Amino acid sequence: MPGMSNPVSKTAWYCTGVRMQDARSSNPLVGDAWAERFLDDEGRRVFERFADLEYANGANIVRHWLIDQWLEARLAAQPDRRIILVGAGFDSRALRLDGGRWIEVDEAAVIERKQAVAPASASPNPLIRIAIDFARESLADKLAPHATDAPVTVVMEGVVYYLDAAAIAVSAKTLGILFPRHELICDLQSNAFVQRWGKRIIERIAILGARWRFHPSDPVAAIEALGYERRECLSIALRAAELKRVRVPAMMIRYLLPSLRDGYRLCAFARREPTLPSP
Ligand SMILES: C[S@@+](CC[C@H](N)C(=O)[O-])C[C@H]1O[C@@H](n2cnc3c(N)ncnc32)[C@H](O)[C@@H]1O
Repeated sequence: MPGMSNPVSKTAWYCTGVRMQDARSSNPLVGDAWAERFLDDEGRRVFERFADLEYANGANIVRHWLIDQWLEARLAAQPDRRIILVGAGFDSRALRLDGGRWIEVDEAAVIERKQAVAPASASPNPLIRIAIDFARESLADKLAPHATDAPVTVVMEGVVYYLDAAAIAVSAKTLGILFPRHELICDLQSNAFVQRWGKRIIERIAILGARWRFHPSDPVAAIEALGYERRECLSIALRAAELKRVRVPAMMIRYLLPSLRDGYRLCAFARREPTLPSP
């Protein structure tokens, strides 16, 4: 298999390693049995560099669990809901959750590894995997055959802060045109959070060649400015503390550490109806 040429793709090994670590632990939160199977030797080597990061890893697994919860609620209400994972990495939700019609988009090296371990054709839920070279190919072209007016959930987990503002704007525009009734689920980090709490993980990720690009002072407002309306936002750090996945008292985060509480959030946005120009 060719190696990962997009440095951000290597971070997919990190997230999968976190899920492997969780699944192997005595009290798993997500319990993703696929994670270990997806990791190859390169993936294991990458994850070794991150295995000791208690806070980042705790937040990462809680983020994944929270998104599981949100998707399960949507699938309970609508079992055939379309779900598109942009920058899917080694996400195994199409294989793990009940229901959904899934599309996973990522670099060819990621898609090939997933196909080798768990072919889409054997998925319990309908699953299409799409390989894209994010630097040279357009998301619009790749997703155009799947355009629909039906409700769609787009998940960009662990992705947005690696992109620059222009790339995020292009993705939002593309998604708005192809899926006018989509909601976007993504995690967002503020500049205050990155400066005060993000240094350790950012330094480790930098070893892989990837860097943080999108951390405005108010990332929720920045996404809303792209044609979205915030529906729900949760504090990932606070939930991680409440679930005891990080050793910080939840009360401390809730009352004393606002940049930690509010700086790293999981949000769901609805696409705003385009306003028609006045006659
Ligand atoms: C930190 S990983 C997260 C993977 C997965 N969503 C998860 O949570 O396990 C970031 C992912 O973004 C993908 N990616 C790289 N460039 C991208 C781009 N321009 N747009 C969307 N995703 C991108 C990478 O290939 C990688 O799989």
